[in-house]
Amino acid sequence: MHHTVEIENLSFQYPDGHQALRNISLHIGPDEKVALVGPNGAGKSTLMLHLNGLLRPSEGEVCVGGLPVTDENLGQIRAWVGLVFQNPDDQLFNPRVFDDVAFGPLHMNLPEEEVRRRSVEALAAVGMENYADRISHHLSIGEKKRIAIATVLSMDPKILVLDEPTAMLDPRSRRSLINLLREMERTMLVATHDMRMVEELFPRTVILDGGQIVADGPTHQILNDEPLLEAHGLEKP
Ligand SMILES: Nc1ncnc2c1ncn2[C@@H]1O[C@H](COP(=O)(O)OP(=O)(O)O)[C@@H](O)[C@H]1O
Ligand SMILES: [Mg+2]
Repeated sequence: MHHTVEIENLSFQYPDGHQALRNISLHIGPDEKVALVGPNGAGKSTLMLHLNGLLRPSEGEVCVGGLPVTDENLGQIRAWVGLVFQNPDDQLFNPRVFDDVAFGPLHMNLPEEEVRRRSVEALAAVGMENYADRISHHLSIGEKKRIAIATVLSMDPKILVLDEPTAMLDPRSRRSLINLLREMERTMLVATHDMRMVEELFPRTVILDGGQIVADGPTHQILNDEPLLEAHGLEKP
């Protein structure tokens, strides 16, 4: 089984008529780590929401692990794809932090001990081991973001899709997240404005602008193309 992402000629229009994605084709191989960059409104979050079926193409096709993202494959796809939303308030819905992190593994029908072990480990991985009994709703945005990441890590997904994971984090939390991502051998697509992280962590970078892929290549090459970066509102780190 290849846990890869295959997007073919994807276009997407929101119900209000806004065309957010135009003819996107993107293939991500097993254990490949890809950065997705581009200005606000480029379509990064919209693209990511297609990877676990929260949005469906207006045109084109999205496949994950060889399966088309359709209603009948949704259970399998969501077990494979761990998606962390840009806004952690969209991810956290249990009153207690521990229950949010345990929710995924609990619904995978794992034994209680395994659910507990995974949840404790996931909290530790984001440095939030002391937050198990806190109320998610009361946390700061950076704390919520780290818990949101833990809710996905506890499911041990084959593919990690992270929407601006470092945006709200303090320097220490950012650093430990970067170290964690570096050590994980996993297929990853990460939307970010953190160009230093891109340079450090991702061999491949995709630039999205106006709903279109305008560049896709080795990160060092893209980060050295100053006219390209400037044309799309990006800066060399
Ligand atoms: N629910 C929605 N209805 C209409 N337009 C939307 C909706 N959500 C996002 N958009 C628009 O789609 C475009 C892409 O948004 P988004 O994917 O969030 O971009 P990014 O994540 O790159 O900042 C933006 O112009 C945004 O305003
Ligand atoms: Mg976004």
